[in-house]
Order: sequence, then structure tokens, then C-alpha cells
Amino acid sequence: MSSSAIELKRQAAAAAVQFIESGMVIGLGAGSTAYEALVQIGQAIAAGTLRDVVGVPCSKQVAADAERFGIPLTTLDDHPVIDLTIDGADEVDPQLRVIKGGGGALLYEKIVAQSSRREVIIVDASKLSSVLGTVWAVPVEVIPFGAQAQWGFLEGLGASVSLRKIKDGATFYTDQHNLILDARFGPIGDVEAVAQAMNNRAGIVEHGLFLGLVTDLIVASPDGIRHERAS
Ligand code: A5P
Repeated sequence: MSSSAIELKRQAAAAAVQFIESGMVIGLGAGSTAYEALVQIGQAIAAGTLRDVVGVPCSKQVAADAERFGIPLTTLDDHPVIDLTIDGADEVDPQLRVIKGGGGALLYEKIVAQSSRREVIIVDASKLSSVLGTVWAVPVEVIPFGAQAQWGFLEGLGASVSLRKIKDGATFYTDQHNLILDARFGPIGDVEAVAQAMNNRAGIVEHGLFLGLVTDLIVASPDGIRHERAS
């Protein structure tokens, strides 16, 4: 990743971290952009400018990183309402609908998003898209039982499908020990209908279409930071 790409992620993260107030319960998203927010939250705690915050991590990896940065952790069971979550996204449309799950943490990320008063998505401008699906496949978390049937189901919805693997070619398993099928739809005409079809399908645990969940979008570009709020 180029240093300018990392710098944009840092800037987007910095804009979001400003929304955090002492005493808040914060959702800690996954991925390289949300990681920059973790770093900065840790720094603010160490500097004493942020006090008494607790974080709900969206993956085991995020939990490990947060602990390393000195962010006190809690669980959604202990804090079922999150004040503010900062998370990244893979693709964002003009209605602030997003595709998430490039890192495979979409299930916990969606649970956390649905439990958050504010869901702040931080991206660089490369993530913006006029129609979802144009750039990114929709990650679909399925239970291992009958996964092949879900493959066919997603193809029936118009996607070309691949099984998520890790670098050495081994199958990727989520923190819940499920599989990820990456469903490449191309530009999705009716995002709500595709999401609903997947919602209705047994065996599909969750999918990476986050609709109506984002309250704030922060976009970092070489021209500066833009903050949009959902209407
Ligand atoms: C993790 O499962 C994802 O939803 C990430 O938030 C998303 O893939 C964005 O990641 P980057 O910030 O690394 O691009």
C-alpha cells in the first residue's frame, strides 16, 4: 500500500475519532482503515484526552490489536447499546449503502452496526461507487452444511461465486467457523431485493450489503475530508 493511501486512511480515521467522547461505548471495526482508528484511539487514551471508553471489537484480530493499543474491551452482552462505531467499507454508494466484509468480519460488523447509535464509515475516495457491486463482490457468510447449495442459490441471483481462501490456498473460516462465498454480481440493479433474497435463505448467516445502517460517512481524498450524514 502506498504511503499516500495510508495517509488518507489516517486522515479519515482522525476525523471519525474526533466524534468519540469520554465515557462512550465504541464499536471497533475491522480492516486497514479501521485499524488506523484503533491506533489513534489508543493514542488518545494514553494521552489522557479520552477517558473511560470501552470498545466492542468486531473480530478476534481487532480484539488483539485493541488490547495491544491499550483500549479497554467489553462485550455486546455487557453493553448492548454502542454509542458510536467506526468501521471501514469496501464500496459505498451515494445513498450511503455499503458493501463490507473484505476482511471476513461482516457478521460481527453487522451485529455491532445494528447495535450502534452512530455507525461512522471511514473510507478513501477509491471506495466510492455509483452502483454497488460494480467494484466489489458481496461477501456472503454461509454455514458449512450445504454450502454448495448456497453457491447455486447465489448463481441463481445472478452472481459468479468463489469460495474465500487465505493466501496459502486453504479455506478461510470466519470467527464463527463459517465459510465466505464471494458473490460477484456486477452492478446491482435492485440492492434491496438482492439483500432480501439472501436474508430469506436458510444457511446464509449474513451478507455484506449494509443497507440503512450508516449514519455518517467520512471520505478522505487528496482534496480533503468530506463528512456526509444520512438523511
Ligand atoms: C472487514 O470485514 C471489512 O468489512 C472492512 O471494514 C472492509 O473490508 C474495509 O477494509 P479496508 O479498510 O482494509 O479497505
